[in-house]
Amino acid sequence: MVNRTDLYMCDKCYNLNMKTLILYGSLTGNTQFVAEEISQDLKKNKIEHDLINASEFSPQKIKDYDMLILGSSTWDNGHLQYDFEEIFQEIQDIDFTDKKFVAFGCGDSSYEEFCEAVNIIEKFWETKGANKIGESLKIDSFPQMESNKVLIKDWLTELKNKLA
Ligand SMILES: Cc1cc2nc3c(=O)[nH]c(=O)nc-3n(C[C@H](O)[C@H](O)[C@H](O)COP(=O)(O)O)c2cc1C
Repeated sequence: MVNRTDLYMCDKCYNLNMKTLILYGSLTGNTQFVAEEISQDLKKNKIEHDLINASEFSPQKIKDYDMLILGSSTWDNGHLQYDFEEIFQEIQDIDFTDKKFVAFGCGDSSYEEFCEAVNIIEKFWETKGANKIGESLKIDSFPQMESNKVLIKDWLTELKNKLA
């Protein structure tokens, strides 16, 4: 967690009042890797946030956040990752009007429904009134691959511009 006092010392002034959550569901650690990369980068830029694995998250707490950075891998031909799916079922009645979000996730393009979980996240939060603040990030195969690391870095640059 980055202290609010640190925030006042940063060169670039990010949205200080936005409570930000990185919430991710990951079975084999790929989407977790991306979530941790996002978190490290936000920390470096003194953007305060919580980083939480969906398996350890109390669904109703999602109401406490203004900015949601939501990640899920895709399993079983186009479904959300299981822990993320459980949260998803618990928040169906929440109104996300005025909240902001962006989505990310890992998948494998050899499957017909490539990164469908990311599409599911986008569709749900948009239907619930949230504003998508940037393009979603879809990672094909291992996020540790050099080409994917570049994708993540470029996506983060865009994201930080949106948060500024
Ligand atoms: C049984 C099985 C089903 C899968 N289904 C899909 C799919 O429908 N779409 C997709 O893009 N990737 C699919 N994948 C690939 C995973 O999403 C991919 O391995 C991802 O990196 C896992 O991320 P995680 O470790 O964060 O859970 C599937 C993998 C397995 C083993």
